[in-house]
Amino acid sequence: MGEIKTKYPNREECKKIMEDYGTPERVIKHTETVALIAQKIAERLKDKGIKLNIPLIVSSAYLHDIARSESKHDIKGAEYLKKIGLYEVAEVIRDHTFHKITDNISEIDEIDVLCLADRMTIEDRFVGPERRMEYIINKAILKFGEDKRDELEEKAKSFVRYVHELEIFMGKKIEDLIPNNIK
Ligand SMILES: [Fe+2]
Repeated sequence: MGEIKTKYPNREECKKIMEDYGTPERVIKHTETVALIAQKIAERLKDKGIKLNIPLIVSSAYLHDIARSESKHDIKGAEYLKKIGLYEVAEVIRDHTFHKITDNISEIDEIDVLCLADRMTIEDRFVGPERRMEYIINKAILKFGEDKRDELEEKAKSFVRYVHELEIFMGKKIEDLIPNNIK
């Protein structure tokens, strides 16, 4: 991989970075959907007065799952991105799996926007918070057993509530912000 000329690579550049790394096509498609959702949410929040670095959000959304096929994929991905000079993007993606989104909507940052978009997406489709949480709970129960259910459902409910509050703040539902071809 040659030297990267920009701190915030665009769609084509990110695609090239992922192909060079060996990210599967299916994952690349997922990241394109997440990037689009993240960009729409970020633009709307910016209109509402939230300070956000949108190019950083978009590049990070494209690259967040670069190492998806490996264990601890967020840390592995961040290490690689750092190695190729994308320090800011690396910091945004480093903890995206377990990152706790800020409760205070007026303090939403770039990591929060990436995680919001990712947590409403399955593969290359926007599915909204309810369906995505259901999907995560079912997967987690298969792995850890039924006794985790209550705790997971509580977390899922609070995420759904949070997205609802965010939509009130934005004055628009997320599904109305994004294009039809990713729904
Ligand atoms: Fe993702």
